[in-house]
Amino acid sequence: MQTLATGTSIAVIGAGAMGSGIAQVAAQAGHQVFLLDQREGAAEAGRQGVAKQLQRRVDKGKMEQPVLDELLDRIQPIKELSELADAGLVIEAIVEDLDIKRSLLADLEEVCGESTILATNTSSISVTALGAKMKHPERLVGMHFFNPAPLMALVEVIKGLATSDEMAQQVYATAAQWGKKPVIATSTPGFIVNRVARPFYAESLRLLQEQATDSATLDAIVREAGGFRMGPFELTDLIGHDVNFAVTSSVFNAYFQDTRFLPSLVQKELVEAGRLGRKTGQGFYSYAEGAQKPEPATAEAANSDAATLIVEGNPGPLAALVTRLSESGLKIIERDGPGRLLFGDAVLALTDGRMATERAAAQACNNLVLLDLAFDYAKASRLALAAADQASSQAVNDACALLQKADIAVSQIADRPGLVVMRTVATLANEAADAALHGVASISDIDLAMKAGLNYPEGPLRWSDNLGFSLLHTVLTHIQQSYGEDRYRPALLLRKNRFAEKGFYS
Ligand code: NAI
Repeated sequence: MQTLATGTSIAVIGAGAMGSGIAQVAAQAGHQVFLLDQREGAAEAGRQGVAKQLQRRVDKGKMEQPVLDELLDRIQPIKELSELADAGLVIEAIVEDLDIKRSLLADLEEVCGESTILATNTSSISVTALGAKMKHPERLVGMHFFNPAPLMALVEVIKGLATSDEMAQQVYATAAQWGKKPVIATSTPGFIVNRVARPFYAESLRLLQEQATDSATLDAIVREAGGFRMGPFELTDLIGHDVNFAVTSSVFNAYFQDTRFLPSLVQKELVEAGRLGRKTGQGFYSYAEGAQKPEPATAEAANSDAATLIVEGNPGPLAALVTRLSESGLKIIERDGPGRLLFGDAVLALTDGRMATERAAAQACNNLVLLDLAFDYAKASRLALAAADQASSQAVNDACALLQKADIAVSQIADRPGLVVMRTVATLANEAADAALHGVASISDIDLAMKAGLNYPEGPLRWSDNLGFSLLHTVLTHIQQSYGEDRYRPALLLRKNRFAEKGFYS
């Protein structure tokens, strides 16, 4: 695949947070970089920002001073677009406004040579719409970096309707050469990451609204059981609720108000209150000096007379939990049955998307306690459970005692369909499967984007495969029945996998 030669000069327009980071990435890859901003002094300030960032690496002995000096020499603030005539690639990172970006692209077409690739770092505007007024829209490619650009590996290479394959491939190869992990996506609202990630925030916001438990407990479950780097509430406090709510609203509207993307009243309320997160000192949590983050709700140590765990049939993904319990010294008896665990009065099973109360009634099993999904049951330090309304307090006590035998902190939440991690992973995989169905990107690129762009522990489609070919379809079908909402209808490809008995990768 053809990349840009090292000697090719790059231009970055807009020297704000993203533009200066992108200039740094290109200069680190050895290119001469022109940096331009309409605001007086901004390009020079952008270059100084890069100097300040990298000086820290020099101070820590991670970079030689002459290497930094040479790198900075390669970033050249300029004042006129006409100086860009010979640039091989121009990346615009100016204000997120369709008309202003279109006007800049029109000016660039006037000054740049025919072979110059024009790239846009837009995070939400259609690349197709940006190219619509261009003389040569085939040379416009989306090059969507993530913040901060020097640290985040993902670059979404976006093809508008008219973008030439060759230009997109060249941008892809160039991003790879710069040490990034590029993926190719079509110009659809939210591209890959900002679309597929919506349920990560939305489902926890819903669980909070439905009073399943509090925000600190949901964050802890998503982190400690789900294996995600941050919980949805601490993450949106960091991103800023104004920004996160705006992205959700923009994706919701762009998909003609599909309820899958419905914004949350809980988050809207925070925005209206000016509780935007860390930047205002208050979001879901307080960041005032001395403020303590609330502790997650954790069950007290429980005592149980039960000494043996009975495993009835194949417990599915819970098999890893059984192994962990056996390694902690618990006696295990295996016998035929429907795939559940018996300990004392408790009957435990992995959530299948039904409320425990509903499933207990359907299976005539009062003491049913449902367990949430964990990314890795061998390592999870916390697990959520939900008990049927019919269950005795002894059954709940025994369920807690069982998990505590493996040093797992237990968070009991109210009985809601799919609990927390299972519901999050099922809806992420559902969205990813639809993105694949609609040709937004390949299966492997969708997974790569979610891992490289957001540090997810696993791509949602690979995760779905790992859980077996029908589990998430079943979970979503049950959640959909519980709410009666299209929002949870299982994606066609999940349904197909179920009947083909194969996965996305097999
Ligand atoms: P920013 O506000 O920090 O910087 C934008 C810069 O562009 C400002 O310095 C402004 O003076 C300059 N500018 C505005 N109009 C201009 C024009 N016509 N010609 C030259 N310079 C102009 O914004 P930020 O956050 O760097 O975003 C820039 C672009 O990157 C936007 O399209 C945004 O959607 C996108 N983006 C932002 C991300 C983020 O997390 N901030 C992540 C990925 C993409």
